[in-house]
Amino acid sequence: MADERKPDPNGNLDGDAERPSHPFQIDLQAIRERAREHMSSGAVTGAYAADRTAVLTVLNEALATEIVCVLRYKNHYFMARGIHAQSIAQEFLEHAGQEQDHADAIAARITQLGGVPNLNPADLATRSHSEYREGGDIEEMMQEDLVAERIAIETYSEIIRWLANDDPTTRRMMEDILQVEEKHADDLANLLAGISWAAAATQRGDVEVESPAPRH
Ligand SMILES: [Fe+2]
Ligand SMILES: [Fe+2]
Repeated sequence: MADERKPDPNGNLDGDAERPSHPFQIDLQAIRERAREHMSSGAVTGAYAADRTAVLTVLNEALATEIVCVLRYKNHYFMARGIHAQSIAQEFLEHAGQEQDHADAIAARITQLGGVPNLNPADLATRSHSEYREGGDIEEMMQEDLVAERIAIETYSEIIRWLANDDPTTRRMMEDILQVEEKHADDLANLLAGISWAAAATQRGDVEVESPAPRH
């Protein structure tokens, strides 16, 4: 049956649930004036609700974390030795490239927010959340990488919760990065499981086996 109720001037039908009592209103003229006045602030406008200085500090720590991850994965790529080395070294190289992409994205966001990406190597390790650890054999390397990924996952999750809705652009970037770190951790956990399985098979005297490839 057709609804014959007449909407009021706000578009509400009698008996409908109440519409929000705060209509979306902006002072477009004032926004336009502020945009012109503070053009040197670039992407940062009066609508930026986060503590910019604190965000820049946190982003520079995340940048240091990513650079340390690039260096650690590169070391592991060049130093990987053993029967499983080839496929795992390729995985290290792929991760190193993705960590570099993260570093670049974070550095770009720091400049958008009016900051300076801190790439000073002198205190990189102390600003990084994760550590630079070389590891002995390939299994130890993967264990060190998995620990570093798990640290990044925890700290980035905290950053995302802290940013909440105050800086949605930075939060979305960190969410995208977090998704990749979780995949890195999953890849490493699978590779480690594959190595244990292959070692057990070799001990039993089975034919020499290549560890299963990581899931993609
Ligand atoms: Fe990363
Ligand atoms: Fe990662």
